[in-house]
Amino acid sequence: MSDLYLTITVFRDERVLARTLAERIASAVAERPRQVLGLATGRTPVRLYHELGTLHARGSADFSRITTFNLDEFWGIPPSAPGSYRAFMEEHLFRRAGIQADQVNFLNGAAPDADAECDRYDNAIAAAGGIDLQLLGIGTNGHIGFNEPGRELASRTHRVVLKESTRRSNAGLFGGDVSRVPKEALSMGMGSILRARRIVLIATGKSKAKCVERLVSGPVTPKLPASFLQLHGAVEILLDGAAAQSVNS
Ligand code: PGA
Repeated sequence: MSDLYLTITVFRDERVLARTLAERIASAVAERPRQVLGLATGRTPVRLYHELGTLHARGSADFSRITTFNLDEFWGIPPSAPGSYRAFMEEHLFRRAGIQADQVNFLNGAAPDADAECDRYDNAIAAAGGIDLQLLGIGTNGHIGFNEPGRELASRTHRVVLKESTRRSNAGLFGGDVSRVPKEALSMGMGSILRARRIVLIATGKSKAKCVERLVSGPVTPKLPASFLQLHGAVEILLDGAAAQSVNS
């Protein structure tokens, strides 16, 4: 399915989606081993990351020369904290897929100065030649990374105050205790994200149906940060049937 601005593919279920995307990523990396991948956390990409780990374990994929950048990180906790996004990525992808620390770029939530850390990150992305393929999830409120709906959006990597709903949906990383979820984070901005050469957004489950429909059919508005993806030109949206249920085919 394709409209003028976005390519949409609906898969039978999230397992097939994850397996298909993992194979595509592995073959893109086989063709060009020094790819720069932009990565996301959240429940949605976990299955994909495990599939990438399986391909690596079978010897069917080699990720040893890629470079990675993650979208965001909590502010105020070190990378080694069990609830950090860095720890999440170690558990679900890096360890499984043989991706070493020197291949990984991450915002540091314990850096001495948030603004300097954000500038460092944007400069590191530029120095790596930009992001070839950016993976994204989407929040039910249409957020991308920690770019939350509002009256305006930041373009560059920046510090954000998290919404209560976002803190609640991250409580699982902190033993289910929302009071332990940091109140702030650092996030790539929409401009940093839209500079990626290709973008693949994954959404699964019926809780995502509404925001996917607004992303695909609605106006471009900071009230739905994901709607800015309509401006990019090389965005693929991969859905399961439940997330696609409100999208007109
Ligand atoms: P989820 O989060 O994958 O856990 O649904 C996506 C997001 O908030 O970006």
